[in-house]
Parts: sequence; structure tokens; C-alpha cells
Amino acid sequence: MKVLVVGSGGREHAICMAVAKSPRVEEIICAPGNAGIASMEVEGKKISCEKIGAMEFDKLVAFAKDNQVDFTIIGMDDPLVGGIVDAFEKEGLKVFGPRKNAAILEGSKAFSKDLMKKYDIPTAGYETFDNPEDALSYLETAKMPIVLKADGLALGKGVLICNTLEEAKEGVKEIMTDKKFGDAGNHMVVEEFMTGREVSVLSFVDGNSIQIMSSAQDHKRAGDGDTGLNTGGMGTFSPSPFYTKEVDEFCKKYIYQKTVDAMKSEGREFKGVIFFGLMLTEDGPKVLEYNARFGDPEAQVVLPRMKNDIIDVMEACVDGTLDQLTLEFEDNAAVCVVLASEGYPVSYEKGYKITGFDKFDNEDYFCFHAGTAFNEAGDIVTNGGRVLGITAKGSDLKTAREEAYKATEWIDFANKYKRNDIGKAIDEA
Ligand code: AMP
Ligand code: GLY
Repeated sequence: MKVLVVGSGGREHAICMAVAKSPRVEEIICAPGNAGIASMEVEGKKISCEKIGAMEFDKLVAFAKDNQVDFTIIGMDDPLVGGIVDAFEKEGLKVFGPRKNAAILEGSKAFSKDLMKKYDIPTAGYETFDNPEDALSYLETAKMPIVLKADGLALGKGVLICNTLEEAKEGVKEIMTDKKFGDAGNHMVVEEFMTGREVSVLSFVDGNSIQIMSSAQDHKRAGDGDTGLNTGGMGTFSPSPFYTKEVDEFCKKYIYQKTVDAMKSEGREFKGVIFFGLMLTEDGPKVLEYNARFGDPEAQVVLPRMKNDIIDVMEACVDGTLDQLTLEFEDNAAVCVVLASEGYPVSYEKGYKITGFDKFDNEDYFCFHAGTAFNEAGDIVTNGGRVLGITAKGSDLKTAREEAYKATEWIDFANKYKRNDIGKAIDEA
């Protein structure tokens, strides 16, 4: 089989690594991919990157047709929300991911909140606004802290937690007036502030049935002790010890299948990955957000632990036969520590040579590339805020964490920055 993967981050590297394990696959092409994916070497597999952007739907479809691609996997949110799956299906191509009318689950926070309200899925109370005046007058009497969310996609950064009315007013200005997150701020959700531990649960969905992957926890803030700005994610661990049997049973009853059924009832059948961002509140688990794809860096700790052939599972999602399959995960743990460029997520330098890749065996230690490129001399250099995701597996979370931090020392580049407390919560479990 020939498989095309669309995207360029650590998540797509983790997907390519999982796909490369499938005995059914001979060739993997990633568009646009990154230096790490281009450097992958797996016996008996041809792996390459193609310089086509994830939003260049026509070119991607033409590439898939011209090159007899058998199966395409969309990793990223933007193309999904933009309708890439519809573009592939229109040409009779087999593709994994939700159609545009279902990817709205991530593409519009107002849509997802209204869906949860309509179908009684536990989430924070909220109001939606389409102009700043109404939002401001609502905020005058609202309880603080409060959460403001730009409606559309904003690289995970369109969420502002405001402690005072002044901060909230400033937030409305940023989102709706100054359009700091672009058109994502045309509409805004104002949401009740919740407290509790966060858990990420990824799932495969085939339109009707849903299967849950092993849980994970992300670390969104840039600095140790959850300080500093929100980022795309600075590290993850899996499984989450806080995702207990009780939590799992609750979510199975009130959240997972209900979401899939709700989408179906709305005529928006969802096939692909649903990512449930959950908060374990005193009143039980509630949905913080949905994503319509694998989380990043969650994928970097969940996929290396999955025992199934990922192509079998993804095909079952497309074909509607997921209920005939059982997902299996290794009885171990994984921790991912992101190596970023100093200054991320605000401003940072690029182009520094990275060394130390040779120790990673892709069995217990993984070096997933997120923001890397080749320079003219053919060296791999830093090319983004999040540069690499260093994942290690271990018999338990503590061992995996030790191993992951050990492996971060193998890699060297100028301005290397990481959090030092990824997985610290494990000690409290
Ligand atoms: P989201 O992109 O919606 O997941 O929000 C990003 C982050 O903001 C979440 O991971 C939470 O840490 C935080 N957050 C979002 N909504 C709320 C809320 N209602 N209460 C407290 N924190 C929130
Ligand atoms: N790690 C959170 C996300 O992928 O949105």
C-alpha cells in the first residue's frame, strides 16, 4: 500500500512512524513533512516528503491520483476544517479524517458548545457573542475569573483566562476588535471558569461507534509550574493516572458515544479522530474542548504505545467497521518532553544546527521532529518554536519520565529550551 500523510509536525512524524510499522504499507509520502520524516529509515519501506502545503488541496489530490496513493491520512486541523476530506472523496480517493461538516466540531467553539448544550453533554456554562458591545455588557455582571474563547482555529492560543473585569475587557478587545486571532475572533464564546485536572482522551470514530485510546495529559504553559504563556503543548505523558476506571465509566456513559450520536443526529457523521479535552471537576468530568484530530504532543506518547496496525484501525473508521476491532495498548507508559527554541511562543531564532540524533532507537526512545529543516549543507537545523518531541517508554510513568529527560540530554542545539517538570503530577497520583 502507498500512504500519504498530510501535515508537518511531531504528530505527523508519530503517525508516519506508526504507519511504517504496518506490514501492509510499502511506501509513505508526507506532505509537506519535515526533516525528521524525510530522514526516517525503516527496513523495506520507502519514505519521503513532498513539498506540497497542507492547504493546497488541488495539488494534494492531483498528487494522490497521479501517484496511485491508496490511503491518505490528514493529521492537521486547518485542512480538515477547510474541507480537505471532501476534496479527496470527490475524486474517489480513500481518506482518513472528518469531512468539513463534521470537522466544525473543532472549527467552531460556538458550534461545539451549542451541540453539548443541545445533547446534554457535560461542559462549562457559556454564552456566545458576535459583537464586542454585547460581550462587554454581559461581562459587567459576570463572575470572575472567566474564560474568553475565539470561536475559530487559533493555533491553540485563542483562549484567554481573565481574573478581573479589566482583563476581560482587554480580552474582548484583543479577540473581537483588534482581531489578534484573525477571523477566528468574529464570534466569541464566554465560558464559566472551571478548576480540576485536565486529561486528553483520543478516540477513533467511524460515524457510529467510538473506541478510546489510552489517556494522556498535556502541559500547555511555557514555563515550569504551569507558568507563562499558553503554547501548543510542552510535553505529555500517557496514560494519565487520574483517568480512573470511574472517570472512564462516566465519560463512556455521558460524553463519548453521546458526542458521536449527536453529530450523527445533526447530519454531520464524524469519521476520524475525536480528541476530548476533559477537565475532571468536583462535579465530574466536563468537556473543555473537542479537536477533530490527534493531539500534538499527545500523539507522541499515545501512538508509540498502540499495538494495533494503525492502517487497519483507520480503514475501519472509513469503512464503518470499527466495532469489529479491539484497540490494544502496551501495558507501559510514555513521556514526551518538547525541546523548544528559547523565547517560544513569542519570538525565537531559527537555523541552528541540531546534533545527537543517533541514539534514538524508535523502540524505547523516539525523537519526533516538529520544527526542523535541512540547511543548504544538508544539516538538520531548528526551524520553529517547538523543535523536537523527545519520547521515552518505560515500565511505569516514573521510569518513562527519567528516560525521557535522559534522552533530552542527547540532543544539542543553540537556544534549546524545555520544561523541567513534565509529568511532575505523576508523583501526586
Ligand atoms: P481549549 O483550547 O479550549 O482547550 O483551552 C485551552 C486551555 O485553556 C485548556 O487546556 C484549559 O487549561 C484552559 N481552559 C479552557 N476552558 C476553560 C474553562 N472553562 N475553565 C478553566 N480553564 C479553561
Ligand atoms: N495538545 C493539544 C492539541 O493538540 O490541541
